[in-house]
Amino acid sequence: MASVQLNDGRAVPVALGQDLLAALLDAGEPALYLCMSGSCGRCRCRVVAGGAALAPLSEAERQHGCDGEQRLACQARVVREAEIVIEQPV
Ligand code: FES
Repeated sequence: MASVQLNDGRAVPVALGQDLLAALLDAGEPALYLCMSGSCGRCRCRVVAGGAALAPLSEAERQHGCDGEQRLACQARVVREAEIVIEQPV
């Protein structure tokens, strides 16, 4: 099982195919977000570790200028098991 950790909080499980924001919210973590659809950019995060376990940038992330180190948590889907660490706000 992969995991995601936000801002030095606890690591929470994230299923393969699930986006980071959904995993954090399911676990009750205080992630920043608004639209959950790649539009607002509020969920932008910096990937500190585990970025190779995420799917390639979505079109929405490209439109927000994300570069791989910065991702939209609602768009970044986990494709491999890893311990992913992110920070918000960027
Ligand atoms: S919550 Fe709006 S872009 Fe992710």
